[in-house]
Amino acid sequence: MGYKTINWRKSMRVTLDYNNMTDTVLGDEGISAKEFSSLRNKAAKAWHYVHENRGKDELYMGWTELPYNQTEIVEDILQTAKNIRSKFQNFVVLGIGGSALGPIMAFNALCHLHYNDLPKNKRKGPKFYVEDNVDPVRMHDLLDVIDPAKTCFNVISKSGATSETMAQYLIILDLLKKAGVNVKDNVIFTTDANKGNLKKISDELGGIKSYVLPDGVGGRFSQLCPVGLLPAAVCGIDIKGLLAGAEFMDRICRQQPSMRKNPALMSAVLQIAAMSRGKNVGVMMPYSDNLKYLADWYCQLWAESLGKNETLDGKPCNVGQTPVKSLGVTDQHSQVQLYTEGPFDKVVTFLSLKKYRYETPIPHGCENIPDVAFLGGHTMEELIQAENAATAYALVKAKRMNYTLWIPELNAFTLGQLLFLFEMQTAYAGAMLDINTFNQPGVEEGKKATFALLGKAGYEAKKKELDACPTNNPEFII
Ligand code: PA5
Repeated sequence: MGYKTINWRKSMRVTLDYNNMTDTVLGDEGISAKEFSSLRNKAAKAWHYVHENRGKDELYMGWTELPYNQTEIVEDILQTAKNIRSKFQNFVVLGIGGSALGPIMAFNALCHLHYNDLPKNKRKGPKFYVEDNVDPVRMHDLLDVIDPAKTCFNVISKSGATSETMAQYLIILDLLKKAGVNVKDNVIFTTDANKGNLKKISDELGGIKSYVLPDGVGGRFSQLCPVGLLPAAVCGIDIKGLLAGAEFMDRICRQQPSMRKNPALMSAVLQIAAMSRGKNVGVMMPYSDNLKYLADWYCQLWAESLGKNETLDGKPCNVGQTPVKSLGVTDQHSQVQLYTEGPFDKVVTFLSLKKYRYETPIPHGCENIPDVAFLGGHTMEELIQAENAATAYALVKAKRMNYTLWIPELNAFTLGQLLFLFEMQTAYAGAMLDINTFNQPGVEEGKKATFALLGKAGYEAKKKELDACPTNNPEFII
């Protein structure tokens, strides 16, 4: 790996502190050494399953190889991003779910928190928008602030059949045509290599610049392929650093099946142990505004991957854990009361930064009011870190499970590590639950019902099924 020096990479390692999950700290509410050793075989089996099936497209495990097999594509993306930066005022991603959460997350993590409000010379690229809903007001309002002719639209859809994304595309197509713009100049597709509607549209229009969402990579595992890399590169994010961070974490994870040495495997074990104790809610709590949308991205990864109703050999089951996003310190003033005194049904994962991008000193003042004056001379970094430690302390005092992923500082390399760690954690946990981690039949069902309701050909039987549903009883509408 040629990214920076080995010492720098080591200094940037993301670490896991799970003291507050153990019986040493939590007494009966914590995991005992005996329980850890009883999970060792299951964890090793999951590790073998994941690593023996790495890269297999048919199992949707192509994502494991993304840190290694994209050298050419990365150069192409960097060149395209450079052209986009010089040519366009806005860059708009049209996509939803796995085709949107990754771009939103990386942008928020690594760019200025008020990026679009910065003057042009202080931004690294065009204004950036991700439209991941079909709220008509949102589309209307977007069109109030962008000029389509001066905007590059990245349509991201693996299937090219997702109603939300394709409806947005039709609106944009119409606007570009009306503005007399050649669609090929302003639109880039990210889609399947060989099939799907975007491929057909591209062929019909004589070839739209397209990036491939590889066969073995599902939506929620796609941030490290062109789905996430192109938008990130347009915003000036170091995409080689992202991939290097992912590779760094992969090398840690693939060494051996020892949960003591593999933070993704240990995180999966902690969550599985917590679930077996009835912790049906997994709170992801970053103490960083930059990581707010990483929690959203994680929620989709965890929910869609693990929420399943049958085992790999077809036996009925209902497994999964409800992921919840919570932002430190903001949600201390909203959710933490529930976490410390409510039901014993949660496990909290803190994402904690050792060093923030800025310290932001708090000046002295209000010297006659000690209740306020004590803050002067500290920094906001000290304050947020103290509040993070205080919340962990309060949870421990109330005997609530929690653990921390420590991030030396937030940069492309550490973000890449986090993404890969969570993807591996999810793959290991899915293997431990004995389910198909990589499908999403529940999402597909909703997509089909939408097609039927809007009269798509081929969905007549589904429409009949929907029509046969009992109508709402007016008695229950008050
Ligand atoms: O993770 C997933 O597979 C889903 O969230 C999809 O990404 C989402 O439904 C969008 O699908 P598509 O990329 O086919 O438009």
